[in-house]
Amino acid sequence: MLVTKQPVLRRFWYPVIPIGELQDGPRSFTLLEHPLVLWLDADRKPRAAEDRCCHRSAKLSLGKVVGGNIACPYHGWQFDGKGRCVVVPQKDCAISPNYQVNAYSCAERYGYAWVCLADDPLVGIPDIEETRDPEFRSIQEFYETWKCAGLRVMENEFDLAHPAFVHQGTFGTEEHTTPDSLEFTEEEWKLHVRGVLGVVNPELQQQNLKMDAGETVRTLDMTWFMPFTVKLRINYPNGLSHIIVNTMTPIDDSTSQMVQFCVRNDTEADTATADVVAFDRAVTLEDKRILETTDYDVPLSPNREQHMFTDKPGLIMRKKLVALLKAHGEVEQTRETEFPINERVRLEDWR
Ligand code: FES
Ligand code: CO
Repeated sequence: MLVTKQPVLRRFWYPVIPIGELQDGPRSFTLLEHPLVLWLDADRKPRAAEDRCCHRSAKLSLGKVVGGNIACPYHGWQFDGKGRCVVVPQKDCAISPNYQVNAYSCAERYGYAWVCLADDPLVGIPDIEETRDPEFRSIQEFYETWKCAGLRVMENEFDLAHPAFVHQGTFGTEEHTTPDSLEFTEEEWKLHVRGVLGVVNPELQQQNLKMDAGETVRTLDMTWFMPFTVKLRINYPNGLSHIIVNTMTPIDDSTSQMVQFCVRNDTEADTATADVVAFDRAVTLEDKRILETTDYDVPLSPNREQHMFTDKPGLIMRKKLVALLKAHGEVEQTRETEFPINERVRLEDWR
């Protein structure tokens, strides 16, 4: 599936920039190949618009914020959060109602500015209920660009056969190549999977978990929020719940922004934030190394890759995405549909 060729994916919310990064002025971000400018308005609320001035097409993200409006760096026209031009500084120049740039839905959640490119999102920003629970603290972990399709990362999170091999440097062990159990529940916009997996418990993690054991068991309560957010609630036998939330915000067909934060029911005095982040960072880099080698054109049709039983969550994701496309009058766009095989054969004949 080529994400930029499936218009329905524009109807979901994605985290684009940490709110803190907007304090010093506007920033740019490319979401599904749409160049955006983001800034904070007079109420310190994030705003998003097309990063292209309607006058002579300069990048608004090179401008500055003036009174909550974004001012173009070229001739100083200013646009409000709805994309309307509200100031033209040139003397005797009236503001035409056509002086307008596209503005997009934008909201703050979990420390990020989230954007939906459509006026009518199909579903809200994923709700992580533990962030409202006083027993839990939220920890910002990282955001960065991966050369990888978001769907690969979603499937990988639910793939309990990979830790034994990919995560041998952190918690994986070939003693446990498959989960002890795996259960599924589907909802309209979500998939829940519950699994139990034995893992090793390296030293940093033993400190983080306040556990001595060299081995432990992870009971995983995993939720996939369509299309590219996953919540991984990892429950340990001592009552600790470590929740990882990550979104793979689609930048273009082969590139995503990985956004990850953590929510857990202990305190800074129990475990230093830096240690929590260090362990999750090590685990994530193990995934990144492999996932960036996979094909970004993830086939939704099951016959273009081979499967085993631990792939079932990923196959349900693919099936739900096929149904989503169908419900919106789309079919999966792939590199094959972009450049049909018979077209290529004909080009070959010319050589
Ligand atoms: Fe933006 Fe002229 S290009 S004001
Ligand atoms: Co992994």
